[in-house]
Amino acid sequence: YLNYRVPRTRKEIFETLVKGLQRLEYRGYDSAGIAVDGPSKTTSDQNNNSICLIKKTGKVKALDEELYKKDSLNLDEELCTHFGIAHTRWATHGEPSALNSHPQRSDKDNEFVVIHNGIITNYKELKKYLINKGYEFESETDTEVIPKLIKYIYDNRENDSITFSKLVERVIKQLEGAFALVFKSRHFPGEAVATRRGSPMVIGVRSEHELLTEHIPVQYNSDLLHDRKKNTRNRADSSSNINSVGDGRAVEFYFASDASAIIEHTNKVLYMEDDDIAVVTGGKLSIHRMNRQAGEDPVRAIMTLQMELQQIMKGNFDAFMQKEIFEQPESVVNTMRGRICFDTKKGVVLGGLKDHLKEIKRCRRLIMIGCGTSFHAAVATRQILEELTELPVMVELASDFLDRITPVFRDDVCFFISQSGETADTLMALRYCKDRGALTVGVTNTVGSSICRETDCGVHINAGPEIGVASTKAYTSQFVSLIMFGLMMSEDRLSLQKRREEIINSLKMLPELIKKVLSLDEKIKAIANELYQQRSLLVMGRGFNYATCLEGALKIKEITYMHSEGILAGELKHGPLALVDKHMPVIMIIMRDACYTKCQNALQQVTARSGRPIIICCQDDTELTKNAYQTIELPQTVDCLQGILSVIPLQLMSFHLAVLRGYDVDFPRNLAKSVTVE
Ligand code: F6R
Repeated sequence: YLNYRVPRTRKEIFETLVKGLQRLEYRGYDSAGIAVDGPSKTTSDQNNNSICLIKKTGKVKALDEELYKKDSLNLDEELCTHFGIAHTRWATHGEPSALNSHPQRSDKDNEFVVIHNGIITNYKELKKYLINKGYEFESETDTEVIPKLIKYIYDNRENDSITFSKLVERVIKQLEGAFALVFKSRHFPGEAVATRRGSPMVIGVRSEHELLTEHIPVQYNSDLLHDRKKNTRNRADSSSNINSVGDGRAVEFYFASDASAIIEHTNKVLYMEDDDIAVVTGGKLSIHRMNRQAGEDPVRAIMTLQMELQQIMKGNFDAFMQKEIFEQPESVVNTMRGRICFDTKKGVVLGGLKDHLKEIKRCRRLIMIGCGTSFHAAVATRQILEELTELPVMVELASDFLDRITPVFRDDVCFFISQSGETADTLMALRYCKDRGALTVGVTNTVGSSICRETDCGVHINAGPEIGVASTKAYTSQFVSLIMFGLMMSEDRLSLQKRREEIINSLKMLPELIKKVLSLDEKIKAIANELYQQRSLLVMGRGFNYATCLEGALKIKEITYMHSEGILAGELKHGPLALVDKHMPVIMIIMRDACYTKCQNALQQVTARSGRPIIICCQDDTELTKNAYQTIELPQTVDCLQGILSVIPLQLMSFHLAVLRGYDVDFPRNLAKSVTVE
């Protein structure tokens, strides 16, 4: 956060940074740290520009408390131009500790400090090189090579006029891996430099006066070197001669890896591209790059975000996850809004795909790729997509897909399903498929995310910000989006018209049916009360509801820390049945669809072993209720949408189990919302 000619007390600066961190806590939270300008006059510090680092393990709250214990910092001191940085860390290299948390520093005098999101894969080589040059390392992180490297380059500079951005440019030439970086230096007070490769970074601008431009041109170093005039030929320069934002008048800049950290200050943002170097100096923001690549956009647009703060606040709920579960009647409507015509025409149009529909229809197969919950959304819709598109559909976990070096061809269409749009494995799978010439389609919830930007076309699921680490409303919106894709593909298939109509009519009813399922909350809580001390919980089903079992079990394990397994009922006899006895709670999903009789067989096998099944079934299924220990009765819908309703009791169950076991629902241990490392 950088304020230029806007007087702010140190306390206000702390508050801005800490609040930003709290909004990002869901991305990683085992430690946190902050760097601001230190006391303006210290006896030991000749330079007068000392940087004060404060770091703490645990949650942001612990850091916040620590800030106010620093006697040396005058909280009321007014800083008219100041740049402060802050970070929450989720450990990858090195245990959670104050030393390993960020900002990482170049030396004991904090000449350069850096915050980093991502992973540096060649850090060992760089560290060895720098140790040989006499640099001493204090942390176990990969990040620490970065401040050391910039100091090394600074110490060995050819002349004193070298700029901060030039130093950073030289640093990133040496880095391999994924990173979003922000640099602060006592040699360049009031100046900020940020860059990214593979990890997201957004810049927010708040200004008292109207911003004079809607986009800023990138300043290419190669153009500057070879022909200064050439730069005037790019798109932005032909319409305006502004090449930076903020014209030196009062202005504030925010750098963040997610817009939710800055939205309460400004909705004017620009997204950085890989290898962009953003510099704020003298109250002006400009973007620099080395060379212009073919096909590259030479401007960065300033966008107005529609996201509202209250959307990302908890409202009346105890946890974001709970709020997000209860938002599903509205979030599925938002996913369908403007895309489905529920009247007699029964048309479905996904604007982001329509120009590619012909190509998609001609493809050899569809490959659906994702991780965790997003992968389950692919499993859940695979059968109906095969039916509606009449194409083979492969579903793939991104990591395994890459491990197998799966053959991909030019006539494949590859879908990348991701709530955050930033998951490293999914993003790498996307690049892998792109390299092989396949058409790539993004299904994401985050506008401007890397997957959004790098795919050829896509669907935005419009579920609204999802903050709870355990994904809930994004799953049901991904589900609905993929169904809409199937409907769009089958529009001209006469033989499928009846089926389509049945699905579209059921989609119309969906929000009401979800509300009915949510009204079972008290009953589900009562069942959770009986189960919360168990060590293990099995979830069984098949056909259209197999994905529900996988997803339900994932929800349970990730927030309750109980062992839970989603079991395909057809596999019961091939092993899992051995787990069943009178002590093992088994949740069985048995809906009235083509697998009903087969599921009843599985139920008999469970009851024959004295198991006490909790059955999720359709309303008034007296046959099943006779054999059940407990039942959760759901409204019935068309078979391929039933999974949207059957997952909700399991979302609620996992929430109540976690609360009863005393865990923090929104921040499960060891997990982060957005997994931007491999
Ligand atoms: C589970 C969960 C994770 C994510 C997975 C992929 O509740 O949230 O399994 O689904 O990390 O994340 P996205 O969808 O952001 O790619």
